[in-house]
Amino acid sequence: MPKVVAGNWKMHYGPAETANYFARFRPDANPESVSLIFFVAGLSLHAAKTSARVPVELGVQSIHWEPSGALTGETSAEMAAEAGASFALVGHSERRHVFGETDAEVGRKVAAAVRAGLVPVVCVGELLEERRAGRLAEVLRRQVSAFLPSLQGGGRFMVAYEPVWAIGTGETATPQDASDAHGIVREALGELGRAPILYGGSVKSGNATALMSAPDVDGVLVGGASLDPEVFTKIAMAGDSAGGSTGGGSAG
Ligand code: PGA
Repeated sequence: MPKVVAGNWKMHYGPAETANYFARFRPDANPESVSLIFFVAGLSLHAAKTSARVPVELGVQSIHWEPSGALTGETSAEMAAEAGASFALVGHSERRHVFGETDAEVGRKVAAAVRAGLVPVVCVGELLEERRAGRLAEVLRRQVSAFLPSLQGGGRFMVAYEPVWAIGTGETATPQDASDAHGIVREALGELGRAPILYGGSVKSGNATALMSAPDVDGVLVGGASLDPEVFTKIAMAGDSAGGSTGGGSAG
């Protein structure tokens, strides 16, 4: 199975900057070794689709669970799919901690993504105080159990393990930390535990290879370092090597 290298641009890059980015993003990667996904602003989906020069898949960073309605400012999964998205991030730490998204809402959004034919990439991860209090497994199991019922009808999905203390801080989990947490998530997923599990949190070109070679790590979700096309090209190529090699992480 190819490694997954996903970029989360957050609230960066409108259509013109998106086109400019893709003019400079040209990794010489084998799609059988690495699969590239960009979570762009919804308003930049069209620009991404028309300007990418290498095979990439596109996703949105948030969806609402209703297909339509009087919900000013929201985007439905169906609209995202029609506009060119194949993936949707759900439950990103900034959605949970800045916008107050709950576990129950994450579950509804996962169901909406599946309904619309989008692949949800569901983010889980513990706060620093939870890790220090020895509550890592408990938190991950709680977060997984909240969205698992939404997947029982089938449908492709991925999980991104993103420890909150590692997001945008320069602090990265060690490959061992990532493997351990991914093992917990896989177990909590039960019979759906073969889904790809990505690591996110201060992934850079210098640590991407070690993380993607760790057991149980199927790819990376990259924030800040995905904003520079040259840096993200290096991370894509790290995925290409890790996915093309026979050793390293389990594909599940
Ligand atoms: P970061 O963000 O790579 O900038 O830490 C990761 C994320 O928020 O998905």
